Amino acid sequence: MAKKAETKSLLRTKSRGSIRSMFDEVAPTYDFLNHLLSLGIDNYWRAKTADKAKQLLGKNTSPKILDVATGTGDLAASMAKITGAKVTALDLSPEMLIIAKKKYPHITFHEGYAEKLPFGNASYDLVSAGFGVRNFENLDAGMREFHRVLRPGGHALIIEPMIPRNAVMKSLYLIYFKKVLPKIAALFSKSSFAYDYLPNSVEQFPQTEAFIAILKKSGFKSAEYFPMTFETSILYLAKK
Ligand SMILES: C[S@@+](CC[C@H](N)C(=O)[O-])C[C@H]1O[C@@H](n2cnc3c(N)ncnc32)[C@H](O)[C@@H]1O
Repeated sequence: MAKKAETKSLLRTKSRGSIRSMFDEVAPTYDFLNHLLSLGIDNYWRAKTADKAKQLLGKNTSPKILDVATGTGDLAASMAKITGAKVTALDLSPEMLIIAKKKYPHITFHEGYAEKLPFGNASYDLVSAGFGVRNFENLDAGMREFHRVLRPGGHALIIEPMIPRNAVMKSLYLIYFKKVLPKIAALFSKSSFAYDYLPNSVEQFPQTEAFIAILKKSGFKSAEYFPMTFETSILYLAKK
């Protein structure tokens, strides 16, 4: 299938099988391209999120965190390092998980779907997801699962790319995201399609208040958001 048609079809269905194939294909170059394309800022966003988690966990002496859509495990690892929590992580892509397990043997990784988490009710103090929920086949079901596995009073922390609201920043960002980034990615990744899908999936995803509404509909008592780095990334915080 031609690249544009493939992107359109995946954006429409977000079928788990196709999402898994795409991430399996990008896995070998994922870390390298992630750091290159975000100019290294992605690690700062993960560290900021883990700092927030530490603050939320407060005096909890044996906190448990679940990192969903963990990919190669970087957010899970930041969470473990900064909060000292026991971290469990899950992803649907076996190839991403092979890399994650090699990098972070101290973290427990599971293969599975966000929409049907293999964990009991109220079993985590905090659930995190970095740059993952945008790809869920069923976003509402995923958010309900985040809510179900959290203990009452527990928090979800979700990072997503953001399209800046300022008109000038927005046009610069879209030029980089839609024209420059796919060309750089195509030089290194087997899947140039994945980097056509990326900006389109961000544009299509509900941001700020629209995503807050989804979190609240999924059962969260309160939800707020914190734009980061000139609104190029956004951290959502929801409380059960
Ligand atoms: C862009 S990567 C993000 C990885 C990592 N969290 C990070 O911070 O770099 C998105 C990940 O979400 C995973 N994913 C997408 N849909 C999923 C689902 N429904 N359930 C579990 N994982 C999913 C993909 O396999 C992929 O590894």
